[in-house]
Amino acid sequence: MHASTDGYVTELPYSINHFPEMAPAHLRYALLQSGFAAPALDAPFNYLELGFGQGLGLTMLAALHPRSRFFGNDFMPAHVAAAQAMADSAGLSNLQIMADSFAELATRELPAMDYIVLHGVYSWVDDANREHILTLIRRLLKPGGVIYISYNALPGWANKAPLQRLMSEIAQREDGSAVQRFDTARRMLATLASQDAAFFAGNPGAQSALREITQAGDAYLLHEFAPAGWSPFYHTDIAARMAGAGLQFAASARLFSNVPQWSLPASSRALITATADSSLRELMRDYVVQTPLRRDVFVRGLIPLEDEEVIEAEGETLIALLRPPAACARNVRTPIDAVHLDDEVMDALVEALATGPQRFAALRGLSTLAHIDPARTTATLNLMLCLGYLGAVAPADTAARVRAHALNAALLGRLRAGERLSGLVSPAMGTAVAIAYHDLLFLAGQQDGCQDEEALAAYVAGILARAGDEVVDAHAAPDLRREAYNFLKYGDGYYRSLDLFATQ
Ligand SMILES: C[S@@+](CC[C@H](N)C(=O)[O-])C[C@H]1O[C@@H](n2cnc3c(N)ncnc32)[C@H](O)[C@@H]1O
Repeated sequence: MHASTDGYVTELPYSINHFPEMAPAHLRYALLQSGFAAPALDAPFNYLELGFGQGLGLTMLAALHPRSRFFGNDFMPAHVAAAQAMADSAGLSNLQIMADSFAELATRELPAMDYIVLHGVYSWVDDANREHILTLIRRLLKPGGVIYISYNALPGWANKAPLQRLMSEIAQREDGSAVQRFDTARRMLATLASQDAAFFAGNPGAQSALREITQAGDAYLLHEFAPAGWSPFYHTDIAARMAGAGLQFAASARLFSNVPQWSLPASSRALITATADSSLRELMRDYVVQTPLRRDVFVRGLIPLEDEEVIEAEGETLIALLRPPAACARNVRTPIDAVHLDDEVMDALVEALATGPQRFAALRGLSTLAHIDPARTTATLNLMLCLGYLGAVAPADTAARVRAHALNAALLGRLRAGERLSGLVSPAMGTAVAIAYHDLLFLAGQQDGCQDEEALAAYVAGILARAGDEVVDAHAAPDLRREAYNFLKYGDGYYRSLDLFATQ
């Protein structure tokens, strides 16, 4: 236990998350999409996650890449214990979990890293810890190494930041646990808003921000809003700090943001894309689209590629289908527009990917699409990648398969105990796959012998009831039966293709 948490509130463990954007294969694709060289995936690499939370994403990646070495720290004992338990169940001898604060980690002997990633950390710690993080990056990142850093962005948080400040000021003056104090604070905010406080009238976004705060679960409320050092940042400030550590901005890990035609309104697109200075360009983007959370990728020693080099490297990228075909809607929204996916191209791509991942080049050259303009195929491929229907993945070997099965078995245990997980690891796809919570419960039900929709619905109702959810009786829950029916009809075949469990 650490004597001081530097103003970070550790009363409740954080929710259990994994973010596909933090996978090396995804980061490589984001770099290529932006026209920059990216580390190869076929050689072993070193990967460090700072402030890993419950450690789900980190353990998933360590399971999938047994030849590479993974490191991670978090100073909350409950987080470290959860991550270590998952690592032990899956025999992850390539993962070193450290119960260190950032100050302690900054003085530890560690090997040079190919990747250093941090999600939900930089805006949430204080200035001294931000300095420790920069020290670690400066000291440990290899030339050509990649940083993934997310942070609350300005001006996207311009409406919400004053709410965080007032909540903090109120909570500091209250008695009780942190949850009680912040709960009182959010109620007082709601009272002010209902009494026509001019701040809410003058800042329409603050009203919706307050609704979010009012509905937030306790763990999110504390981890998002309670840290004493909490601060949103302008991109230019982050880029300057990274430049001080020898890094250049390369891309967003949110793929849509790397494609101006899908992420910037036509009215301002030309002005922004003509801005040569990447810091200014990104800052202007944040004013135009009000980015709330940035997911930036920086590189130490950025290497721009020629167009042909990008096409070649992109062509070698392994692409997988990341959700059941029935869950891939055709009418979709990009960040700026409503679009309809090209049905013919999408059908051919989904069919080709039903048997497992394929190289980007093979998908571009599908014989079933030989009669159409290749630009149409490439555009649909890119759009499906941006939407997360498809993902860039890395091939998984037998060792990865054994570890993935063991990790998934451990995760099923946590699901049965009522924890809300966000996905499982697929050795067949070579990636973690996000799976809807009820589908995860149906998968657990199948592993526990439930075959038909009645049995699956009853099984899931039982878990939800134990977890304190509303649904108690499957007979009083036709929605669960309908969901179980849809799961068997539209999800089952796809989920079997993921090779999630040692016994299917
Ligand atoms: C908002 S949570 C994000 C967790 C995780 N990255 C995720 O996105 O799910 C921030 C994490 O940083 C950790 N943390 C905060 N201050 C820290 C410090 N000084 N040293 C180490 N870990 C710290 C917390 O314990 C917590 O797990």
